[in-house]
Amino acid sequence: MSRHFALDSLETDRLVLRRRNEREAGIYRRLWTERDPRVPAHRRIDTEGRPTLEDIRAEIHRERQLTRPGLLAVERKIDGDVIGYCGLVFHGNGAPDEPELAYELLRSTHGYGYATEAGGAVLDWAAEAGYERVWATVRDWNAASRRVLDKLGFGETGQVEADAVHGDSLLTVRKLGDAHRVGRIRPR
Ligand SMILES: CC(C)(COP(=O)(O)OP(=O)(O)OC[C@H]1O[C@@H](n2cnc3c(N)ncnc32)[C@H](O)[C@@H]1OP(=O)(O)O)[C@@H](O)C(=O)NCCC(=O)NCCS
Repeated sequence: MSRHFALDSLETDRLVLRRRNEREAGIYRRLWTERDPRVPAHRRIDTEGRPTLEDIRAEIHRERQLTRPGLLAVERKIDGDVIGYCGLVFHGNGAPDEPELAYELLRSTHGYGYATEAGGAVLDWAAEAGYERVWATVRDWNAASRRVLDKLGFGETGQVEADAVHGDSLLTVRKLGDAHRVGRIRPR
């Protein structure tokens, strides 16, 4: 199994996915401001305005030093604008050393199939990189994200982290095989 190549840049019909840079910090902060009120406080802007733009720039700077796959900026080819991120994170919710799919897009761009297109490219990359499974956690109330996971072939494991305040978290998994192909990824 080879896991040594970087997740740097992918291309789909409508999107380019590439490493995030500090100049886009404003877009990622806007995502924080647009989050659903049910999202836990540590993932919302706090009363002191944190994370600030500077905090987010610092986080992206740290991310760019890492060699392991991470989050990518999702850029529309037609407009050249960044609309959010999609990529892999290693939280250990599934199995140790197996990645989780993460994505978040600006509200104005929801409903056009971008998350499914971006997620498909990341799964294709993960399969080619030798990962056997990709995990994802989703709140029970998050119908849009549950639908994206369903379209990408994730299935519920039955493992649920109960949370009466923010909504239960459902653990889902997507098995990747040799014949795996979700989207139409073209490595750049
Ligand atoms: C989840 C998210 C990335 C989806 O992005 P998107 O580009 O709109 O997703 P897609 O267009 O690829 O697919 C969305 C699907 O959900 C469906 N959907 C959207 N809102 C829905 C709702 N309230 N109830 C049921 N289905 C819904 C859409 O109809 C579409 O399904 P379809 O293709 O069968 O019609 C976006 O809503 C988002 O950024 N949400 C906030 C961040 C987030 O929740 N991230 C995931 C955390 S697990």
